[in-house]
Amino acid sequence: MEERIIEGNVLDEDNFESSIRPQSLNEYIGQTEAKENLSVFIKAARIRKEPLDHVLLYGPPGLGKTTLAHIISNEMKSNIKTASGPSIEKSGDLAAILSTLEPGDVLFIDEIHRMPRHIEEILYPAMEDFYLDIIVGSDGNSRNIKIDLPPFTLIGATTRAGDLTSPLRDRFGIVLKLEYYTIDELNAIVNRTSRVLDFSIEKEASLELAKRSRGTPRISNRLFKRVRDFAQVKEEEKISIKTAKESLEKLKVDEKGLDSTDYNLLKSIIEKFDGGPVGIDAIASSIGEEVTTIEDVYEPYLLQIGFLKRTNRGRVVSKKAYEHLNINKEGRLF
Ligand SMILES: Nc1ncnc2c1ncn2[C@@H]1O[C@H](COP(=O)(O)OP(=O)(O)O)[C@@H](O)[C@H]1O
Ligand SMILES: [Mg+2]
Repeated sequence: MEERIIEGNVLDEDNFESSIRPQSLNEYIGQTEAKENLSVFIKAARIRKEPLDHVLLYGPPGLGKTTLAHIISNEMKSNIKTASGPSIEKSGDLAAILSTLEPGDVLFIDEIHRMPRHIEEILYPAMEDFYLDIIVGSDGNSRNIKIDLPPFTLIGATTRAGDLTSPLRDRFGIVLKLEYYTIDELNAIVNRTSRVLDFSIEKEASLELAKRSRGTPRISNRLFKRVRDFAQVKEEEKISIKTAKESLEKLKVDEKGLDSTDYNLLKSIIEKFDGGPVGIDAIASSIGEEVTTIEDVYEPYLLQIGFLKRTNRGRVVSKKAYEHLNINKEGRLF
């Protein structure tokens, strides 16, 4: 698959991310509801001098789950250890991580839905009663041993909360869903990035980047960096609206943040299926993509902005999308 600049997942070029991550809840823009709740839970836990309840963060890629996990550990003044679901292959891997925990530590497991089921089961007693229950020895001569763990906070992050088993989900006391950001919030994020990276941007230009960021801070930051390249090559000391628009056009990101993949998807539903309703399987085979790629990667933003609608008879392209693509209902250009 060709790399998309408006991809929500991490790309190689995002390696600067950790340097511009907000470090405290105050610096974390938007997600008001999640933030307000968290700040109460954190204060209460600190008054009780107990670790925070286990936290599950879920939402599309690039909305700030990893950032929030680090902020929680900063606010709790605790250490953070990190792991990711797919990298924990054997039960011993998880046991090894758990046994290094100190009282009050945060253990962050990214992509927790990709942890194998038999490993997940080790987490249940660890989360609930802070002990490890492991089997030592081999077949004829094996026994269970219990190892006490210090109280700790597990923070899990996932893009697919529905893929979590319910016993695991039920063991999180705090479950926070991250939402797509508003244009105002993204605008504030672009301005924050401009301050942190010490490169100015005109008001109109930051608004333009915000509008094209698909509700996603990771994309805002990436667009900021790319557009800054254009400005610097032109020896401009700030990003102007003119340069922003020109470079976004070269990067092939339109006014709504759509790229050629989005156009391809919408157009094939319009041209081959008369705009829908059409089942996801038919769409997938018509554009040669996996159903899950469409559901996880292509579709969410188009649904979010109302360009695609989900009905019980399948996907439908909305009037709004026809207008944006400049196509009338008969499938011809206006
Ligand atoms: N609320 C926010 N305020 C400011 N910047 C944010 C916010 N959320 C995310 N970011 C920025 O977006 C980038 C991606 O966030 P990240 O936490 O890695 O997303 P996720 O883990 O959900 O994929 C980070 O570099 C961070 O700087
Ligand atoms: Mg992450």
